[in-house]
Amino acid sequence: MTSDSNDLSEQILDQLGTHTSHRAFEPVELDDQLVRRAVTAAQTASTSSHIQAYSMLRIRDRETREKLAELTGGQAQVAKAGAFFVICGEVRRHHLAAQRAGQPMARNLESFLVATIDASLFAEKLAIAFEALGQGICYIGGLRSKIADVDALLELPQHVFPLFGLCVGEPLDLPESDPRKPVPKPRLPVEAVLFDERYPTDEAMLTLMDRHDVEMAEHYNQRGRHGHNWTGGLVRRQAKAMRADLAAYYLAKGARFE
Ligand SMILES: Cc1cc2nc3c(=O)[nH]c(=O)nc-3n(C[C@H](O)[C@H](O)[C@H](O)COP(=O)(O)O)c2cc1C
Repeated sequence: MTSDSNDLSEQILDQLGTHTSHRAFEPVELDDQLVRRAVTAAQTASTSSHIQAYSMLRIRDRETREKLAELTGGQAQVAKAGAFFVICGEVRRHHLAAQRAGQPMARNLESFLVATIDASLFAEKLAIAFEALGQGICYIGGLRSKIADVDALLELPQHVFPLFGLCVGEPLDLPESDPRKPVPKPRLPVEAVLFDERYPTDEAMLTLMDRHDVEMAEHYNQRGRHGHNWTGGLVRRQAKAMRADLAAYYLAKGARFE
């Protein structure tokens, strides 16, 4: 490896390490050329058998953005970010190709998963591309909270599966002292994610999770949220099933789960 490529690798890894979700943006519309650049870069993401089973919708209309902010649970950034996108798994093109060729198109859980995986790989590469271009991003899973209403609002076609939203824009310039200023959030220790040959025992896993709890409690303390840690948040969130209407919704859009 040359020293130039070494430097580049370090720069890329450093850039990845700066990621943090942004929820407050300057009121500046995201430039179309910048969007095209990021999307073109993100389209280099690996895709199952090259089927490219994803697409995205940019929503510019102010009124629609306000409605989406409401439907995603009152998330102001959905209306206020420089751009808002809906990221979708999409097999519509595949259906059209089959239809035109007079061929059947099989659908099952595998085909739904493939579209979901393709769209997610594309989306994260897109997020990284936007960040490399100096933008802040925030995924919006809240898009699925009232998915049927979102679908009706955006008049989404069959075989398009909206998965999450993506806010992109110039981050609001908050002073370092402002607790709302986003800072990178600690992640699990690598030992809790990367295993050799076999998974560890439950006890060993819990010990690793305890380590993360300590780090996260410190992170939350510094941000004025006392008494919080990682597993506490998990346990609270998991107590009740969320978004129970999703299977019916995706079935109605043409997905199959057999
Ligand atoms: C699929 C997905 C959906 C998310 N949905 C939301 C959301 O609806 N609202 C929000 O504020 N953040 C959302 N996030 C951001 C996460 O909360 C955030 O990535 C996580 O807390 C880690 O923080 P970081 O991104 O700042 O490192 C989502 C992230 C992902 C990957």
